Amino acid sequence: MAVLVTGGGGYIGTHVCVELLNHGYDIVVVDNFSNSSVEGINRVKTITGKTFKIYQTDLLHKRKLIDIFEQNSINSVIHLAGYKSVGESTEKPIKYYANNIISTINICEIMKKFDVKKIVFSSSATVYAPSNNHQPISENFPLGATNPYGRTKLIIEHFLSDLSQSDSDWSIGILRYFNPVGAHSSGLIGEDPKGVPNNLVPYLARVAIGKLPVLSIFGNDYPTMDGTGVRDYIHVVDLAQGHVYALQKVESTTGIDRYNLGTGKGYSVLEMVHSYEKASGRKIPYEIAPRRKGDVAICYADPSKARNELGWVAKIGLKEMCQDSWNWQQNNPNGYEGDHPSPLNALKR
Ligand code: UFG
Repeated sequence: MAVLVTGGGGYIGTHVCVELLNHGYDIVVVDNFSNSSVEGINRVKTITGKTFKIYQTDLLHKRKLIDIFEQNSINSVIHLAGYKSVGESTEKPIKYYANNIISTINICEIMKKFDVKKIVFSSSATVYAPSNNHQPISENFPLGATNPYGRTKLIIEHFLSDLSQSDSDWSIGILRYFNPVGAHSSGLIGEDPKGVPNNLVPYLARVAIGKLPVLSIFGNDYPTMDGTGVRDYIHVVDLAQGHVYALQKVESTTGIDRYNLGTGKGYSVLEMVHSYEKASGRKIPYEIAPRRKGDVAICYADPSKARNELGWVAKIGLKEMCQDSWNWQQNNPNGYEGDHPSPLNALKR
């Protein structure tokens, strides 16, 4: 019996694969590698010493999904695949709606066909309505995404809820991520954004290593301790372990539940800069820029539901988040790129 991991080649996906394998699960990975690298998957095998099947397939191709279910004994799915850039989603809503929503409908349709009804879905804190006054955010906080990417996550959450209502055999766990950062302690897998990073920590990493000259801090006039935005940064290994706990719950129950995966602590952009400077031993030049459209001042999780119902808590602190990010950045100054330019050749290893 295996867990099908969609998007297993990505930043979160590779870390989830490592944790699943370390917990004794068999896995099958499906990824179209549009925003990830086969080399990441090769390194999951190196870290764990385990092997597993990988399908380079788009979830929009139902026939190929059927083949995967026919060729493997799959009994649950962790569905991570999807486009994830807030900025790009505002420019290319068709791309986001078509890919994220249709691929989820396809995977659920094929799951139903094969009577596989256990799924953990990767959602985001971006589904919550923006608020600066009601922190921390618990799962019953009002919903209301403010960008197309977030709306695809919200629509999928509603779809999964309807699915659960229609058939009580389904068991569904929805994980709302806060801000995943850091990397596996081996330094072999980590975040490898294409082009200029949009997110703070990969941007800090590129400035620290000298690939980007200066960090722009988007606003220093927010109502926070130092005026810069506050977020709930969570180590990606903690986040990945949250998937294993959620899967265990999904395996043992039916129905649908939503869980925040965050630490419950907020750090400002300036605190992040200082922590990254310490971890890297490098000075990080920054300048104050105007606020970024759509940003809220403060966003951090109430993670107590995951603690109480899944038995999961985030354990890794800010220092290690920055150290592990820096370790990954130093070991892989060009990300996965360069070593294995052709995904198909790399797959043959
Ligand atoms: N920031 C900067 N400069 C940068 C990048 C970010 O000052 O170059 C600031 C932002 O203004 C914000 C903080 O750093 O205050 C964190 O920004 P990120 O872009 O790293 O993360 P966000 O909180 O904006 O968004 C992230 C993911 C979304 C997800 C959301 C969930 O990118 O996909 O968390 O809360 F939906």
